[in-house]
Amino acid sequence: MEILKVENYDQMSEKAADIVMEHLQGLDKPVLGLATGSTPEGLYRQLIKRNRAKEISFQNVITFNLDEYIGVKPEDKQSYHYYMNQHLFQHIDMDKRNVHIPNGTTRNEEEECKLYERQLMHVGPIDIQILGIGVNGHIGFNEPGTSFQSKTHVVELAESTRLANSRYFNSLDEVPTKAITMGIDTIMNSKTILLLVSGEKKAAAVKKLIDGEITEAFPASILQQHPKVYVIADEAALREVPNRNVVHV
Ligand code: PGA
Repeated sequence: MEILKVENYDQMSEKAADIVMEHLQGLDKPVLGLATGSTPEGLYRQLIKRNRAKEISFQNVITFNLDEYIGVKPEDKQSYHYYMNQHLFQHIDMDKRNVHIPNGTTRNEEEECKLYERQLMHVGPIDIQILGIGVNGHIGFNEPGTSFQSKTHVVELAESTRLANSRYFNSLDEVPTKAITMGIDTIMNSKTILLLVSGEKKAAAVKKLIDGEITEAFPASILQQHPKVYVIADEAALREVPNRNVVHV
């Protein structure tokens, strides 16, 4: 795990865009794993800027998102389909046929999970997967207790996750209770993983991510066993991590 320390959110986003570009360039059909939430918004702004400046094209890029709420329609503002269109897809030269996001309004959730794995198997592995981290150590919507062997599956959202995400809804009651997420094993099959984290409120989670026990009680800890992970974190998020463990960029 390579820990890259940056001063702030903007630097995190720029460095992340550099690493994404490096990993997509030179490939015929690169596969990019995408995340939602506040953390990657700055990275997406950078990618849009660089796409407009013709420094990168997304025409041949195939994308797979980590997760989607169950019961939220793609056109609803709270859906991750909507988020991705708003924050990235509608601004870049992406071929919409190359976009994959789990269908949260399917009538057969189990079949949707299997289909998602098959689609990924067909074009994968993911060349570079972008990740955020929850305060409880979740990656994607893999909440504490999720098996490290898990593939794409249906999850019950933890209360802390629903509370954190209630900022996107009118009230906590409106936050879905279930979602479809890539599993931990699905994520671990990515060739490279790029985890972004910013801000003091994630400091305790970052410490556990980097040198905590590897345990299903803290899902992100499994990343310690992945051969190629970059963590880009700002000073606030790295507050509890000794400087000797990080590279300043
Ligand atoms: P955030 O979410 O980027 O909105 O903090 C990250 C996560 O919960 O994985």
